[in-house]
Amino acid sequence: MTSVQLVLFGAAGDLAHRKLLPALYDLYREGRLPAEVDIIGVDLAEMDSDSFTAFACDAADTLGRFFPKDVDADSWTAFAQGLSYVQGDATKPETFERLAAHLDETAPEGERPERVYYLSVAPFLVDPIVTGLSTAGLLADVDRDRFVVEKPFGRDIESARALDKVLLQTADERQVYRIDHYLGKETVQNLLAFRFANALFEPIWDARYVDHVQITVSETVGVEHRGGYYEKAGALRDMVQNHLLQLLCLVAMEPPVAFQADEVRNKKVDVLKAVRPITTDRIHEVAVRGQYGEGYLAGERVAGYRQEPKVAPHSTTETYAALKLEVDNWRWHGVPFYLRTGKRMPRRVSEISVQFRPVPHRAFPSGADEAWQPNRLVLRIQPDEGIVLRFQAKRPGPSMLLRPVSMRFDYEDAFETPPDAYETLLLDAIRGDATLFMRADQVEQAWKVVDPVLQAWADSPPAEFPNYASGTWGPAAADRLLARDGRAWFEPLPPDATPPGIAPEAVADAGK
Ligand code: BG6
Repeated sequence: MTSVQLVLFGAAGDLAHRKLLPALYDLYREGRLPAEVDIIGVDLAEMDSDSFTAFACDAADTLGRFFPKDVDADSWTAFAQGLSYVQGDATKPETFERLAAHLDETAPEGERPERVYYLSVAPFLVDPIVTGLSTAGLLADVDRDRFVVEKPFGRDIESARALDKVLLQTADERQVYRIDHYLGKETVQNLLAFRFANALFEPIWDARYVDHVQITVSETVGVEHRGGYYEKAGALRDMVQNHLLQLLCLVAMEPPVAFQADEVRNKKVDVLKAVRPITTDRIHEVAVRGQYGEGYLAGERVAGYRQEPKVAPHSTTETYAALKLEVDNWRWHGVPFYLRTGKRMPRRVSEISVQFRPVPHRAFPSGADEAWQPNRLVLRIQPDEGIVLRFQAKRPGPSMLLRPVSMRFDYEDAFETPPDAYETLLLDAIRGDATLFMRADQVEQAWKVVDPVLQAWADSPPAEFPNYASGTWGPAAADRLLARDGRAWFEPLPPDATPPGIAPEAVADAGK
């Protein structure tokens, strides 16, 4: 590959420090970046190239995969040589003039480098940055200049369309990489492999056999120092419109004809198009919001959302959202998909549970199947990445007693530690492979799903916030959402996949 100049807007920010800079160093350290790669940080923060290098070193040191456990001073020194910084206001044209001059000065001799602009910035800065880049002639080469836009892409369907219009006036769709980092996770990509490279599950992957699907993405963290951003976003925009709907698409999509970017994207968009529109009169039946109050996590007292920095004392922003969605197509007719996400919950878990229907006839003697549960397949995205299949087994002994047991696949046992999602996606953007990035129509369809809820929630501010204590599984209304259908949220499986409510010795027996 030719040389690359990667320009990081928002270089002094949280995402750059937590994810992007460590991922770039780790890629470099593994020899997966092109040999000649320059990383140019751009931010309003008063820094120069030396202090930016120290900032990047701290990021790689504290959050990278290699550093400092496997300090390789030579590789750090070589990596650091490619780091530089341009201080400037992204809303001012002069910043882009200085950036253009800097890119020309630092470009290696010979072929013109590929240029990747990563916009790790607040949504309102996307338009000025892309316009600034274009005016300075920095997006002129459709094949070699591209930019990555972080989510949320817009605030609703109207603003996403308006943003697309601006972007596509100044650039070509092939240059726009709309990122959703969940698509870079190995376990998320594995959903395609699991479903379409195995003959076993696809024939029963439909309304005839599946009772319902639950998608849970819970976090223990609060908003930390991102209150300024989060106040304008909320859980529905921050997580559901993108990450959770991506998971829904991968679980519910039809098999692609070929594993090509557009083919896979088409099948995913079809799912979103089939989601039954949420009408205003149904909102209270299908959507629940929540905000965390103070509480306890891992024995520590933690503050409520309204006490977090940069959060309004009477904020109505939701930190928890749950939706019941229905996919109106032949395959999924009548199968509800329950989605939930929240901050400050008891455990950090992303998992998809596919609950199969019960057997048509239970032939076992009464009492044999007290602990009986229909089959469930749990796709664990993180942590404890893996897949668990729950089924019934006879407990050893003289009488016929059934117990649910688990069959498990653990990534850790089968493969090496997977790279961080940002490593995968940064590398794809550098190589110009858009398969794992979102197309404009997909983003729009995703807004179409959540827009009515956003609108209804904005029109009727919640009276009861905060409505769940930190360290709990969300508001009581979320339990009622499923209880109305005669169901309950599954407590995410513990790491050893012991079925909840079953004495460990019973499981040990059953596993024999
Ligand atoms: C980001 C959200 O997109 O995803 C954050 O903006 C959230 O609020 C994060 O914490 C969760 O990502 P992960 O990879 O830790 O599940």
